Amino acid sequence: MAPLGNKSEAYEEAMVSVTEKRPISTVVIIIAMQAEALPVVNKFQLTEEPNSLFPEGVPWIRYHGTYKDLYINLIWPGKDSVLGVDSIGTISASLVTYASIQALHPDLIINAGTAGGFKAKGASIGDVFIASDCAFHDRRIPIPVFDLYGVGMRKAFETINLVQELHLKVGKLSTGDSLDMTPHDESSITANDASVKDMEGAAVAYVADLLKVPTIFIKAVTDIVDGAKPTAEEFLQNLASVTAVLDQAVEQVIDFINGKCLSEL
Ligand code: ADE
Repeated sequence: MAPLGNKSEAYEEAMVSVTEKRPISTVVIIIAMQAEALPVVNKFQLTEEPNSLFPEGVPWIRYHGTYKDLYINLIWPGKDSVLGVDSIGTISASLVTYASIQALHPDLIINAGTAGGFKAKGASIGDVFIASDCAFHDRRIPIPVFDLYGVGMRKAFETINLVQELHLKVGKLSTGDSLDMTPHDESSITANDASVKDMEGAAVAYVADLLKVPTIFIKAVTDIVDGAKPTAEEFLQNLASVTAVLDQAVEQVIDFINGKCLSEL
């Protein structure tokens, strides 16, 4: 029995165990780019919700629908209202994660998107990785303990059965707000032991961890960061074909999740 002082902790643990033992029902999929999101929207025949759950004026878009036994919500942070490009990066990712959890109380979050891969860690173009851990590589604070806060390493929800059955690669994800990689970023990414690099994952992980929502990260490789080609060029060249791979992986993951409890993943 838990000591009296830990009553709320024991209650929380009991609630987690109840949640882990009933089938997953509401899923929130967070995808930063429209090009990555629309194939998933079409695959699950989701529809755009005009009466947004989100504050008036924000560009965030929610698509939703039922697929098998799941209520799927796909959240795309939308286009920047001034520049008209996708609202990529950690700020929009954390805001939509927070707002989606508050509005929808999902059983599970899936953050899906493209990423740069490191060939030194075995990544190739078109590979799909499930992130085991997420951390930041551009929050350098060289003061004891603040340094660890800056890195913000968090474990993703463990999905041993899912990665085995779907034969997906598993690796650590490093997140920053730049597509390119400075020498400073590179040494932090190496310290993070990352196989893939993106612009949202660790931010989604931070918010999901704050609000105790299990989260998995599906990242498809569009460019090889430690390769010879310029990143932006390689990313744009491969975006369409890798998006198709990502969309297939998301479908396989959703099919695997359907009818299962969190503890079965
Ligand atoms: N998304 C796709 N490629 C990326 C890269 N090299 N860095 C960050 N995010 C990415």
